[in-house]
Amino acid sequence: MSLKELNIIPEPVNISPKEGTFTLNKNTLILTDLKSKVIAEQLKQILLSTLGLNIVIKEDLQTKENNNIIILKIINNEKQLNHEGYALIVSQDHIEISASTPNGVFYGIQTMRQLIPTDKIGSKNIDLEISIPCVVIEDYPRFQWRGFMLDVARHFFAKEEIKKVLDLMALLKLNKFHFHLTDDQGWRVEIKKYPLLTKIGSRREGTIKFGQKAIGKKKGFPIDGVPVFGYYTQQDLKELIQYAAERFITIIPEIDFPGHTMAILAAYPELSCTGGPFKVSTRFGILKDVFCIGKEKVFEFTQNILTEVMEIFPSEIIHMGGDEVPRIRWKKCTDCQARIKNEGLGDTRNLQVYFTNRIANYLVSKGRRLMGWNEILNDKLNENAICHYWNADLKQVLELARRGRNIVMSEMLAVYLNHPYVLISLECAYNWDPIPNELEVKYHDKILGIEACLWTEMVKNDYKLEWQTFPRLIAISETGWSPKNKKNFKSFQKRLEKFNQWLDLLEVNYAKKEEYLLYENQFY
Ligand code: ACM
Ligand code: ZN
Repeated sequence: MSLKELNIIPEPVNISPKEGTFTLNKNTLILTDLKSKVIAEQLKQILLSTLGLNIVIKEDLQTKENNNIIILKIINNEKQLNHEGYALIVSQDHIEISASTPNGVFYGIQTMRQLIPTDKIGSKNIDLEISIPCVVIEDYPRFQWRGFMLDVARHFFAKEEIKKVLDLMALLKLNKFHFHLTDDQGWRVEIKKYPLLTKIGSRREGTIKFGQKAIGKKKGFPIDGVPVFGYYTQQDLKELIQYAAERFITIIPEIDFPGHTMAILAAYPELSCTGGPFKVSTRFGILKDVFCIGKEKVFEFTQNILTEVMEIFPSEIIHMGGDEVPRIRWKKCTDCQARIKNEGLGDTRNLQVYFTNRIANYLVSKGRRLMGWNEILNDKLNENAICHYWNADLKQVLELARRGRNIVMSEMLAVYLNHPYVLISLECAYNWDPIPNELEVKYHDKILGIEACLWTEMVKNDYKLEWQTFPRLIAISETGWSPKNKKNFKSFQKRLEKFNQWLDLLEVNYAKKEEYLLYENQFY
């Protein structure tokens, strides 16, 4: 068996192909010593749904009755430095996946399923005999943060589609799902203390029509008149968090403050500098009206929301956005000016960091940690806050890393999946590396990892979501997991041909090579 024929994505750290094959059939047993049977059940489900094989699980590693076995086990291996790593051995009479954590065993299964010959997937013949090539694989991730962000504010996506995305992330060994839940165009999370957020903020009357002439400077572009609405109840979110956790994915909620808050201001205009009135935005871009940092009730409101968010989301890290905040209203607002004077902030430039630090301290007091887009940066920013890089000066990033700041990298011209393929090609997405060349090795661990982002202004449905995301997210998953010296775009393209057969089986509308440059596919 040649190395090439194994075709695994992301490319493992070490693969040693061996002679022979293991035969998987209806008599194969899964043996496990995992405390929870959930992972073994997941493997059983994979084999059932992809091959029609209904395999028995035994919670006992000592069983000797069968030499046709798949062993899932936890080992106490001090040398196994990486808690997400695993070893996968396929020999002629058994398959063994071992790791020091359940996460590792789960990732071993994701690799093992890719060893199933694709001409057999989708079969429902229970007498099937499937040959899995013998191999020894040792594997662990390059980065601890391997993320995907989905904006559900600009367009809403149902729970079932989110689960499909989580399934695909798991297959790619991605582990952070960043849920962009709020923005000017929609508020998508139930908050019991503030019911108007969903009653008013989760619905807009329509969306700006792209590609049409403006109807006047003041009036702007025409609106399509098609309402966009939807939100997740707290119960829905708990269900998604559980679903993600079973796939070793943490959901990081983002509640964007103090800008991108028009859906909040439509419901609670007293939180602005001017008092409104406002409506949920039907257009995109940066809006002038944001939270008033001078008013104490803004802090009370923000903390109350975050209190409920923390009750829903167990994630240590809470993303509070902080991007694209104009200061124009703050300049004229007496409350904001009084805050600047009383706190000795100098001018409006320091109002945002004042807000961010108060929120960061609040999160820290609850055992959590703030993350925000690079606009939150300021010399006075709380040390513990994680910077989410998207468009800052790279020199600033280098400086930050050298001073010890943790950073997650989402360069907007490399891993923003909303851009057309003509701007961010598959190769461009594949080749971008989150560690800047200029950064000294001793600071590399400050870069926690890579996150791809899908903003959905122009993504109205599941079909388009999948088209924009795949295959570029597949390429980015390899950057997140595989050693840099193992990356090779030609090899990736070849492996992708096989991977696409998995996407076909899972009914994913990925972009085909011949579609990348089609103009009509780049927009709606
Ligand atoms: C962003 O793209 N506004 C973070
Ligand atoms: Zn104000």
